[in-house]
Amino acid sequence: MKRRTFIQTSIAAAAASAVFKPFYIKAQGKKYVFGFSQCTITEPWRVQFNKAMKKEADKYPEVELIITDGQDKTEKQVADTESLIRQGVDVLLISPKESAGLTGVVLEAIDKKIPVIVLDRNVNTDKYNCFIGGDNVLIGQTAGAYAVKLLGGEGAAKGNIVELWGGMGTAPAQDRHKGFNEPVSKESGIKSLLQPIDCDWKQAKGYDTMTTALKQFDKIDLVYGHNDPIAYGAYLAAKDAGREKDIKFLGIDALPDEGVTWVSKGQLTATFVYATPGVEGVKQALKIVKGEPVEKKITLPTMAVDKSNCEQILKDNGLA
Ligand code: FRU
Repeated sequence: MKRRTFIQTSIAAAAASAVFKPFYIKAQGKKYVFGFSQCTITEPWRVQFNKAMKKEADKYPEVELIITDGQDKTEKQVADTESLIRQGVDVLLISPKESAGLTGVVLEAIDKKIPVIVLDRNVNTDKYNCFIGGDNVLIGQTAGAYAVKLLGGEGAAKGNIVELWGGMGTAPAQDRHKGFNEPVSKESGIKSLLQPIDCDWKQAKGYDTMTTALKQFDKIDLVYGHNDPIAYGAYLAAKDAGREKDIKFLGIDALPDEGVTWVSKGQLTATFVYATPGVEGVKQALKIVKGEPVEKKITLPTMAVDKSNCEQILKDNGLA
């Protein structure tokens, strides 16, 4: 090859590799750092979320995953996220405590050209690269249709419902409320008893709010908890009041060792799967660092879990 042609070919090859392989070059020397800002680890669903995510990240020797714990406080999670930004992570993943308070720091990362993947609870901007989570309106609608059926079926349903809210400043709680009330509000025989009270996704708050509701209302037919811990807390309150047999309890999440087990014991009537999004988060982060396109929104599937399928799920998870 003539010297000139050789030089030209080399320049073309270098240009091509600059376009297609910039991340390869980094991978040989250093790891890709994925920083994940988790809002809390006080809830079992979050613990499972982190565990599955770490397991997925461990499959890729070129990936280092840093997980922070916001300790269920917006200010702590903002500080964690700022620290991940300062460390110059290659991708920022975040599952916000609440939408409004974490939007600023997400925008800060985007401003600094750090790719952002938002998981489970959304923020008030769509400038991120990718959102991964369940369809909470659909989950709410499915739970609402299930409640209507339990209370007598479309057009004939009758009963008093207590809805126990997750964190009101979060998109999942708003969407679970909205979806549920679509089928339920069509039924003139169904009455919603409580004004919205924030149970912040916590079993203890579900217990306390239900204890008050039980004192206030003689007839409660169904409780809709925005997650399984709240629904289970409400069940325990009803049990302590000797009224658990009169009431049906619906929750959301369906962790095998929580919601599914409570369904199997007859404590909850049904729960609806809300898959943890960490594994998908790692997969999409890898695509981003490799320069591959990612979808803006990835919706994880749901399904109802009740007496008909709970035993199988427990078996599949080595719990029966
Ligand atoms: C865990 C959790 C889940 C719930 C989700 C909603 O922190 O409360 O129980 O489904 O968050 O974002």
